[in-house]
Amino acid sequence: MMITRSEDYVEYCRETARNLRDVQDLALRGNHKQEITRRIQERILQEIELCPEDDMIDIGCGDGTLLQMAQARGLRSAIGLLATEEEAVIVRRLGLQVQQGFTDQLPVSDESASVVVCNNVLLVVPRETIPASLREMYRIARPGARVFIGEIPFEPGPAPEPEFESAAATLAYLYRTHGVRTCLGMLRRMIYWKLTGQPMIIRGGSTICFYAQPQEFIAMAESAGLHIVRSWAHQDWPGNRYNYLFQKASPAAPLNFNRRFSPNA
Ligand SMILES: C[S@@+](CC[C@H](N)C(=O)[O-])C[C@H]1O[C@@H](n2cnc3c(N)ncnc32)[C@H](O)[C@@H]1O
Repeated sequence: MMITRSEDYVEYCRETARNLRDVQDLALRGNHKQEITRRIQERILQEIELCPEDDMIDIGCGDGTLLQMAQARGLRSAIGLLATEEEAVIVRRLGLQVQQGFTDQLPVSDESASVVVCNNVLLVVPRETIPASLREMYRIARPGARVFIGEIPFEPGPAPEPEFESAAATLAYLYRTHGVRTCLGMLRRMIYWKLTGQPMIIRGGSTICFYAQPQEFIAMAESAGLHIVRSWAHQDWPGNRYNYLFQKASPAAPLNFNRRFSPNA
């Protein structure tokens, strides 16, 4: 049986949802995911200064942690979007409002959000789709809205894993480089593919599609109409990721980054 590799991240999300053992796997963060995800989302809540009058859209909401935190704070509305319906079905079971939607075609009406969050998502979106994705964030944001875009790498990621012709060579490589657990996990998937007659496609899900130096990313967002409030090195990965807070200008409340945000301005 021929083994192929795919870096199609949307299909990776679909496969993760289909083989889910734990809802936190949808945050796609590997080990200690719950703790890391909670810490990151707590910080996002602080950065956007969330208040009960807000209407929040979380683009690429993962396992729904941020939506749950928003709900607990009694937010007026909190809607999540996910790349696949397979993920959305699972997160909806937690009682959260979630839909399938891609970053460049958001299924959300104009100016409906006072807060837009898109964390750890654009790095897996093809570069050519980034300008349209930023324009979509601008479109759904209300004048004065805060737009948090997080975990943007500023350098390319590691090279993709090598490809091997045979199952044995693939397993030997995984054993040598990633250890016995990864190797056994792949063996289990290979047996399943063989028994169910499915093609052997290894979806790594780790390739960085989009990265940009802060100056370049800020210029891209500004040309979509988003004004930078501040940018800073990510607390957990300062060596390769940046966070950004933008605001959509409002005629009623001209940009003034020293004042507190006004969600309905
Ligand atoms: C790594 S998870 C991040 C989850 C969450 N935002 C967090 O910070 O924990 C990536 C998320 O992006 C979503 N995603 C991937 N590609 C997408 C796309 N093209 N458009 C919208 N969402 C996408 C996936 O459904 C997944 O929820």
